[in-house]
Amino acid sequence: MIGIFDSGVGGLASYNEARRLLPSEDIIYLADSKNAPYGTKDKETIIKLVKSNIKMLKERGSKKILIACCTASSIYSSLSREEQKIAVPIIIPAVYEALSSGSRITTVSTSYTASSHAFKEAAAALCKSAEVTEIAAQILVELVECGARDGGLLPRESAILDGICAKIRDTSPDSLILGCTHFSHLEGEFALRLPTVKIVNAALIGARVLVSSITDSAHESGKTIYI
Ligand code: DGL
Repeated sequence: MIGIFDSGVGGLASYNEARRLLPSEDIIYLADSKNAPYGTKDKETIIKLVKSNIKMLKERGSKKILIACCTASSIYSSLSREEQKIAVPIIIPAVYEALSSGSRITTVSTSYTASSHAFKEAAAALCKSAEVTEIAAQILVELVECGARDGGLLPRESAILDGICAKIRDTSPDSLILGCTHFSHLEGEFALRLPTVKIVNAALIGARVLVSSITDSAHESGKTIYI
């Protein structure tokens, strides 16, 4: 059994990828909608929520847990050794992937993630010449939770995304990290507006890292449980 959690629907992109790669694995998906959004909360509150999610998924039998949320992954270093052993964060793998396209990286994320500089710090640790610009776009979390999806944006939603993409374009990045898993539901919209920029989807990359971290190949029943 593997556990996956997010504040809401963002981590479903990770879930879909994990399910595709592990068709017969049992997966439990926790959407902590009671405490959403995470991106407007302070560090101490986010740490508490992440610890409680890990505990719940562990108690339900998860052998590995994907933190399918960049905001929650930002506080990974504040987790205990034991929690770090079972939980897989998604920021470093996304930065690693972005660096393969060049050193100019822009991230679009929640307010908390942008102000924590988690992406900037991860990039600095991997590549001295990395230049990272972090843009907060918390409003997109609300839009996605309310149903905004690729190919079906309302005019108001489209105008908001146009404004955010204009800011991203001004930074002339080699790659854009969708540094909030909710934004994977808008990957096609970002790609349409930024055709020359490589889009790195942290939710998908995280799921692939989770899958490769699993060595136990005894997958039998393949149930999915949503909480
Ligand atoms: N999906 C989350 C992330 O990747 C958090 C969205 C929120 O609850 O603010 O950061």
